[in-house]
Amino acid sequence: MSAGYSGDRFCHCLRPVPISQPVSNPTLGSAAPFLSVRQVSRRFGAFTALDGVSLDVAQGEFVCLLGPSGCGKTTLLRIIAGLEAHDGGQIIAGGRDISSLPPRERDYGIVFQSYALFPNLTVAQNVGYGLDASNGNRARMQERVSEMLALVGLAGSEAKYPSQLSGGQQQRVALARALAPAPSLLLLDEPMSALDAQVREHLRIELRRLQRKLNVTTLMVTHDQDEAMAMADRIAVMSNGRIEQTGSPAEIYSRPATGFVAGFVGQANWLPLERAEDGTPTLAGQPLLLDPAFVDGGSMQGRLFCRPEAVTLHPDDDAPNRHLARVVDQIYLGSRTRVTLSIDGLADAPLVAEVASSALQAGRNGLGDSKLWIALERDGLRVYA
Ligand SMILES: Nc1ncnc2c1ncn2[C@@H]1O[C@H](COP(=O)(O)OP(=O)(O)OP(=O)(O)O)[C@@H](O)[C@H]1O
Ligand SMILES: [Mg+2]
Repeated sequence: MSAGYSGDRFCHCLRPVPISQPVSNPTLGSAAPFLSVRQVSRRFGAFTALDGVSLDVAQGEFVCLLGPSGCGKTTLLRIIAGLEAHDGGQIIAGGRDISSLPPRERDYGIVFQSYALFPNLTVAQNVGYGLDASNGNRARMQERVSEMLALVGLAGSEAKYPSQLSGGQQQRVALARALAPAPSLLLLDEPMSALDAQVREHLRIELRRLQRKLNVTTLMVTHDQDEAMAMADRIAVMSNGRIEQTGSPAEIYSRPATGFVAGFVGQANWLPLERAEDGTPTLAGQPLLLDPAFVDGGSMQGRLFCRPEAVTLHPDDDAPNRHLARVVDQIYLGSRTRVTLSIDGLADAPLVAEVASSALQAGRNGLGDSKLWIALERDGLRVYA
């Protein structure tokens, strides 16, 4: 039986909350990928929405497509679903080339941003919509519907109508509907973006738990970096119709492949890198110690990048990359404090540090004119062209 859905009318679901480290999936990274997007391109007139995009997703893996508005995320998801044509490339799923199959033969469940439930159908009818209710199947169908509702935490809601449910509940129904036919692939397009932050955080955890339990290969579109970091086994960061980097959340965060990824994921400091006459890189006129492996293109020219946690306050006297700085702002975040600094000689490039609040020393970090030493950790510095 084909479990594919056709049309644009399917579900929506859940959202965010930091989930601890993804449980390792023994099938990940082994054998052939379940879903393989190969050199897919799409133009709208003269505009290139997708420019030779390739992406592999392993069986049971949860991959997020992350990128700013208009970068091509939805277009890619819709092409995989067969809801949008493509100009070039191939989509392989479960060993089949599905590039030219109609949506109903592609075997996926999909959840869109808007709830997209049928308002005139009950919850049970919505969830059972894609199931085979022909002769003799009715009892099994009802059983499946109840099972799916229990899975998404809505047991007993069969007879309700969508209007009697909250937004978060409607997204659960949408998810139940997408998963009811046991598709081998789950496609999610910003499924939680219409929900308020608290509900999103809750549903984020539930969605991930459910996805792991069912071991369904999942591709989720989001422009919310926190959501992607919290949920994904791997993230594909997109910009202008291309994938800039694919990697685990930790890889994307700590080893951004491009300046775009560095700036889009997590908080970034950008400082003006200069060079002395002998070619030594300098910052604010002082020699800068860099790992050559972290210099994009090896040219030592470009923008200097570091995360807030790569800035140390009150470093040891022999620490490299020390500078005198002034505190211009300080925000207490609980266990961490975000400190905005102005490095001597770099008044136009504020530097944000994030440090353990317990490490702040009374009387030595105040706002104002008094100076303190800071250091930029060598391993946290990168140069992007
Ligand atoms: N049918 C269309 N005709 C013309 N241009 C289109 C069409 N569909 C999408 N585009 C353009 O392609 C680009 C990618 O659109 P897409 O919807 O894939 O972006 P997105 O990454 O999902 O953005 P968002 O985060 O805002 O949903 C956009 O510039 C959009 O205007
Ligand atoms: Mg979109």
